[in-house]
This record gives sequence, C-alpha cells and structure tokens, in this order.
Amino acid sequence: MRRKLAAGNWKMNGLTDALSELKALAQAPSPNQTDRMICPPATLVSGAAQIAGDIQIGGQDCHINESGAHTGDISASMLSDAGATAVIVGHSERRQDHGETDADIQNKTLAAWQSDLTAVICLGESLQQRENGDTLAVVASQLEGSTPDGATGANTVVAYEPIWAIGTGLVPSLEQIGEVHDALRAQLVERFGETEGNAIRLLYGGSVKPGNASDIFAVSNVDGALVGGASLKANDFQAIIDALDAA
Ligand code: PGA
Repeated sequence: MRRKLAAGNWKMNGLTDALSELKALAQAPSPNQTDRMICPPATLVSGAAQIAGDIQIGGQDCHINESGAHTGDISASMLSDAGATAVIVGHSERRQDHGETDADIQNKTLAAWQSDLTAVICLGESLQQRENGDTLAVVASQLEGSTPDGATGANTVVAYEPIWAIGTGLVPSLEQIGEVHDALRAQLVERFGETEGNAIRLLYGGSVKPGNASDIFAVSNVDGALVGGASLKANDFQAIIDALDAA
C-alpha cells in the first residue's frame, strides 16, 4: 500500500520570513496516511530542516557531481548535509530554462541516490504535444530516459506535470490525468517489477488548488500532488493535505 505524498515546490520564492508558513504546517497534526514535503529555495533548506518536524525537506535541483568547479550549482550531498531528504529533478522549468535533458535528469537522480535523497522526477508534455496527440509517447519516453535502473518506492517519486497546466490555472480533465497515471504505472511495473513498480508514488502537478484537489486525488494511480503556487501559504497547502489524507 503506497502512502500518499503532498509535496510543495516553492520555486524561487521565499525569504527567511516564509519559514513561518512551514512552521504553521509543522504545528498541524500529522496526517494519518499522507507524507508531507516542502522544497524551499536552497537558501532556506537548512533553516527549514530545523523546524520541519516530520515534514520532509527537499531541494529543487542538484548537480550530477558531488563537488567541484561548478559555480552557482549545488550538489545532492550539500542538500543532504543541510537537512534535505529529497530533491526535485527535471522540473519543466529546469528542462526549459537550463536545457536539461532526460540523460541529465537520470544522472541527477543517480547523484541524489548516492546521497540518500529521494528523487522526485518530473515529466510532462507541452501544449503542442498534447494537441498533437503525443502525450503518452512523450511521457513514456521521458520516464524511460530520466529514470535510472534501480528505482524503488523508497528512492524515487514520479511527478506528472503537464507544462501547460503549471501556474496557469488550467488542469487536464480527470480522464486525461487518469490515462497518463495508469500508463506510467504500467510502465513502472513493466520495468521495475510488481513490487517496486507498484511502490513508486505518482504525483500529479499543475494548478492543484484547495478547490480541485479532492477531485484529482480520486483519480486512480494519483498518490498525491506536487504543488507550486498553492504551497506558499500554509492554509492553502494544509487544505490540499487534508483533501489528500481524506481521499
Ligand atoms: P503550480 O506549479 O501548482 O503553481 O501550477 C506546480 C509545479 O510546477 O510543481
């Protein structure tokens, strides 16, 4: 039985005072069936880890190497050292803004595992790809190319995030979400076997809000959400956590 996961991605948002939102989340009772994760900007990882209680703290990206001459980059071991237990890799904003490829993301995932971080591997189609009817082929190829051999329920989470749904208020239909999640599940089982393929959690991401969360969480093979904008305020994110725990 997979535990559910509500993960918040703060992106490039949050100065020190934003930790008060995390503090509010940490003070709420722990949900029964749901794990919680917040991925603040790297500058806040250490401070966040100190007040997070049983909320997991994650980074938003890591370099493929553990250290070296890579100005401005951050390694998985640095995130781990700062108190993170997870890291997002391959978010579409990284793929687009920094030209990250599936091969890069596979290497970042390996780096994450090396430092005992859970990798939250993101994938999803563009609007053009959706309109061309290529969604299932695109996400299958991203999953294949971005996920190393050896993925397990403990070291890997997969987040399906249609690019056109991120930050736009647009959400695929429940049927469209279910179609992709069922296909991803089948592919994970095919590649990693019944046990681990069924243990890897599949998150939906893209304009998840308190108002649509319950409907999305009722879709088969949706084990939780990766939430951007609505994770910045404790009240909104708590409502999403509550909806997930009740689903
Ligand atoms: P959003 O972002 O919830 O603001 O649409 C989701 C994400 O990019 O992870």
